[in-house]
Amino acid sequence: MAARVLLLALCAVLAAGRAAAEPAAGAASRRRRLSAEEGISFEYHRYAELREALVACPAISRIYTVGRSAEGRELLVIEISDRPGEHEPGEPEFKYVGNMHGNEAVGRELLIFLAQYLCNEYQKGNDTIINLIHSTRIHIMPSLNPDGFEKAASQPGELKDWFVGRSNAQGIDLNRNFPDLDRIVYLNEKEGGPNNHLLKNMKKAVDQNPKLAPETKGVIHWIMDIPFVLSANLHGGDLVANYPYDETRSGSAHEYSSCPDDAIFQSLARSYSSFNPAMSDPNRPPCRKNDDDSSFVDGTTNGGAWYSVPGGMQDFNYLSSNCFEITVELSCEKFPPEETLKGYWEDNKDSLINYIEQIHRGVKGFVKDLQGNPIANATISVEGISHDVTSAKDGDYWRLLVPGNYKVTASAPGYLAITKKVAVPFSPAVVVDFELESLSERKEEEKEELMEWWKMMSETLNF
Ligand SMILES: *[C@@H]1O[C@H](CO)[C@@H](O)[C@H](O)[C@H]1NC(C)=O
Ligand SMILES: *[C@@H]1O[C@H](CO)[C@@H](O)[C@H](O)[C@H]1NC(C)=O
Ligand SMILES: [Zn+2]
Repeated sequence: MAARVLLLALCAVLAAGRAAAEPAAGAASRRRRLSAEEGISFEYHRYAELREALVACPAISRIYTVGRSAEGRELLVIEISDRPGEHEPGEPEFKYVGNMHGNEAVGRELLIFLAQYLCNEYQKGNDTIINLIHSTRIHIMPSLNPDGFEKAASQPGELKDWFVGRSNAQGIDLNRNFPDLDRIVYLNEKEGGPNNHLLKNMKKAVDQNPKLAPETKGVIHWIMDIPFVLSANLHGGDLVANYPYDETRSGSAHEYSSCPDDAIFQSLARSYSSFNPAMSDPNRPPCRKNDDDSSFVDGTTNGGAWYSVPGGMQDFNYLSSNCFEITVELSCEKFPPEETLKGYWEDNKDSLINYIEQIHRGVKGFVKDLQGNPIANATISVEGISHDVTSAKDGDYWRLLVPGNYKVTASAPGYLAITKKVAVPFSPAVVVDFELESLSERKEEEKEELMEWWKMMSETLNF
């Protein structure tokens, strides 16, 4: 409490100093208020300033939109890639989504800073960043809920209400608004049924469902259209990296709810938390005195073990597409004072970069036929893990795995399946290509072999 009063006083002093030093308001002068360091502007960006903040290096970026919010604001994405606008065969695609709860503002700003950082470092010739951008197509959506953010940001003063702006403009909590595929997969676990791409026959139902917010529909189409491999959804209000499943099997409020990829998800969550000194600090007190942090391990938690979330975006990614997503809670405060943003960037910069690099783990390659034509939608299954991924348009696939020995099978309707043994190190991903023989080709071959044998027999036996 004392700390908060002190903080308030400090804010008042800062605000007063600022007003005196700055007679003319407006976006342009506002921009100069906090000094930009190394091309990063450590301040809150309102909707009107967002697009401008993202325009940094056109040669390696492109801004696009995946739809509009309920109030008509664009759901802006900046793509950072050496070939913006293109899926390069074999190159995995990554995404960050921020500010899905409009009042959780740290993620939104960190993603703007990240875009600026990637751009600056690329231009400065930083080899780590150049390699990352050359090998990965990175999509960054600073705000999935621009309406909620504007509502939260419009409140006067530095201290914002805990809830104002959380939902979209229709009052919908976007992280409870996705089709509840967990319930389907839990049923399939018991009764048999697919363990991946569960939305297949429901796409039309999604478009026609009046309960789905426009923001939710926009992001569902995005997830379906791009072969994403890895993703994180940035939130605020706590400090932890959370991994699937978010919804408990039994329906109870707290219960460890492992998904078939528990091992790699634990590792992915750690790859974020371990580079964030506050998140990984074992002696960090809970954000609020009475918070139950008992499920937190090294700054990570299973979603269900913390608290059950039905209809969330994280599990939807995993169960409807090839994309593995975690949810990161970045800050105890949801909308902290602007002066603290630089500190949040320093705490999260290495985590944000390191997490993207995890996309280059496991097994990857191409599935083709004997003539070298790509086989899209081929199934890649790993013995012992009941969650398959599928190949993309060019026959390319990515299968995230922790180190170990695996049996990986590629199969497709009309083709003979092939299984390969592979030893997977921590990174980089091992290349395992598959050439599948079609069943009709096999029949032709068998017929030819039979004919040959018949010919030989008749010649030998002279009849
Ligand atoms: C290049 O970027 C990496 C990743 O962010 C960073 O750790 C490293 O310090 C940068 N190198 C230089 C020379 O700034
Ligand atoms: C893959 O399968 C899905 C669902 O069955 C289908 O909609 C899509 O068109 C297929 N893609 C390709 C490239 O065959
Ligand atoms: Zn949230």
